[in-house]
Amino acid sequence: MERVVLAHPADLDGFRQAVRRLVARRIPPAAVQWEVEGEAGLPLGEPVPPAEAPALRVPRRFADLAEKVVCHADPSRFVLLHEALVRVQNERHLLDDRADPLVDRLEAMAKAVGRDLHKMRAFVRFRELEDDDGPHFIAFFEPAHHILRANAGFFVRRFASQRWTILTPRESAHWDGQVLHFGPGAARGEVPSEDALEPLWTTYFRAIFNPARLKPAAMRAEMPKKYWANLPEAAHIPALVAGAPARVARMLEAGRAATLARLAETARDCTLCPLHEAATQTVFGEGPADARLMLVGEQPGDQEDLQGRPFVGPAGQLLDRALRAAGIDRPQVYITNAVKHFKFMAIGKRRLHQSPDAREIETCRWWLEQELELVRPAVVVMLGASAGRALLGRAVVVARERGRPLSLSGGRRGLLTVHPSYLLRIEPGPRAETEYARFVRDLELARRLTEAA
Ligand code: URA
Repeated sequence: MERVVLAHPADLDGFRQAVRRLVARRIPPAAVQWEVEGEAGLPLGEPVPPAEAPALRVPRRFADLAEKVVCHADPSRFVLLHEALVRVQNERHLLDDRADPLVDRLEAMAKAVGRDLHKMRAFVRFRELEDDDGPHFIAFFEPAHHILRANAGFFVRRFASQRWTILTPRESAHWDGQVLHFGPGAARGEVPSEDALEPLWTTYFRAIFNPARLKPAAMRAEMPKKYWANLPEAAHIPALVAGAPARVARMLEAGRAATLARLAETARDCTLCPLHEAATQTVFGEGPADARLMLVGEQPGDQEDLQGRPFVGPAGQLLDRALRAAGIDRPQVYITNAVKHFKFMAIGKRRLHQSPDAREIETCRWWLEQELELVRPAVVVMLGASAGRALLGRAVVVARERGRPLSLSGGRRGLLTVHPSYLLRIEPGPRAETEYARFVRDLELARRLTEAA
């Protein structure tokens, strides 16, 4: 019997190295014992000695499947993958054959892991603790599979500027603002149950809970009871469900505007990233809650930060002029920004604009998503690269993608164009006029797309 000891339950690199050696040495899957370091009942013995892993046919499809399957809780995951890798050496199209019981089983395992990854992203709730170094956010989650490591990158990107810990019964992940490391698991009782974050989460939840779209069965499927224990807002679910019909009536009356106003109110206290520390206030979006057209800028500028409204400074004045030229009535448009706080560098008394980085855009995207969800515009104009990143979820080159309809999530149409500040930076003259005319043409296209939607 060959014995392979992996460093942790979802050790993809360790598995890759070992399985390559095993297949190259023609050791059959049935003759291998896969174990995980530090797990109970580990018999003594020597691990397979490390050696150079020889080249092997590893189709991309197999690599993708293995990445998910190694996270599955089934102890036979490694044997099954090993078997598939042996077979794929001779059966080129094996992984396309869902009728094959092994392929079917592996696909089902990958799907279950995918669902678990999604659930964890949706249902991890942090509570705030204070230690000598400041706030530390802590959450407990009980995943069905070994997904903590696979999901840790997501939480690092989402909460890059906070210190946080996610505890699971088997393992824990810690982010100190710079380095991610993993430690032992913990019991639910090690997470404090009351703190300042709970009312905030509860407000978020109540703000986004829409009884008009309430489907209790779908809600239970999406948020199974087993996750409820971790959710501060779960305590409100029965009351929200019970009161749904009355709330629907009230909401129809008050309209989405009130919900949006509540959301803006909640955003005033946002401390999700450090930008709130230097800024004067949160600058939330404004405009009708049923606007068909939404404009998204980068972040408030100096004037917006002082006045608390988007696009009221020099860039806003240029935007107003271009909107009029394009036949768009600003009061009919919902106008917001990718990032809701002003980022600047103070030089003497001057505050010099600094573009938000990818992390800040990602952290602030939560608010933009809520605005999109509530306003549900048919067309969204992205003013500049930061807005493009926030809505398309990737880096964009404005010059390459501007001026043509793009698909956004939720079936919305998007249109990327330049930021008005870019036009302000061009020396007055023929080039400035040409660029301004192009900007107006992009806005005209947005108007036509909105009318046609
Ligand atoms: N620039 C932006 O992107 N947004 C504003 O609100 C003002 C200037």
